[in-house]
Amino acid sequence: MLEQLQQIKNWLEESRHTVVLTGAGMSTESGLADFRSKSGWWQQIDPRTVATTEALTHNYQLFQQFYSARIHALADITPHEGHRILADWQKRGLVQHIATQNVDGLHTLAGSHNVDELHGSIRSVRCQKCHAAAEMSSFLANEACRCGGRLRPNVVLFGENLPQQAWNSTLSHMKAAQLVIVIGTSLEVYPVSQLPHMTNGKTAYINLEIEQSHFDIMLKEKAGEALKIIDALL
Ligand code: APR
Repeated sequence: MLEQLQQIKNWLEESRHTVVLTGAGMSTESGLADFRSKSGWWQQIDPRTVATTEALTHNYQLFQQFYSARIHALADITPHEGHRILADWQKRGLVQHIATQNVDGLHTLAGSHNVDELHGSIRSVRCQKCHAAAEMSSFLANEACRCGGRLRPNVVLFGENLPQQAWNSTLSHMKAAQLVIVIGTSLEVYPVSQLPHMTNGKTAYINLEIEQSHFDIMLKEKAGEALKIIDALL
């Protein structure tokens, strides 16, 4: 494992355009559940009943309870050392772009800039009908919009398009990348799962479960641990 970490460190120093793509496994060490590992959200609840446009339309009470619970869970959650290391690497010019599937805002809270939130953010809400921004307190209180519409967090639900600007930005960074480091994601959800294939650069995958095979380096390690060791080698 150490030689793989050393290799990633060498590529990080040599690369002039490095992109980091993260998933829910980047937030578990901050105390947030991921989705598909044995302790993940989707082991307890069928995503079709809460994380789809159908759920928003036909199952609003469960939809509102599910997202309210996840929003409340953020109250005492902070970024971990791994988030702070990535923010530091960005400041030092070792990383040029961070894209995430996470909606928890932890990369930004750790000091990262211009993070592309490919699946949106749970930290703000809008009306599904008139699209006006709404108060988080109104959503948590299960209130309707002034127009009568239903409030929903600004996350990308299954069946919705990804934010165009975030997608285009990350795609262009991937195409320009000399190094792509993918951390804490099962890469099971389209179209983000396709992004690592879009680069001609070196690719490294850091994940607790290795189901992928097309990476130059595949490291079965905790995100925080791997980032701490690479950082110490720099
Ligand atoms: N370090 C490294 N890997 C980890 C860690 C950790 N500390 N904790 C969990 N993992 C791994 C898990 O083994 C799993 O393979 O991270 C991966 C997380 O995968 P998922 O739970 O599928 O999460 P993600 O890939 O981000 O899901 C993508 O699916 O439900 C939708 O919108 C949701 O954005 C999410 C998308």
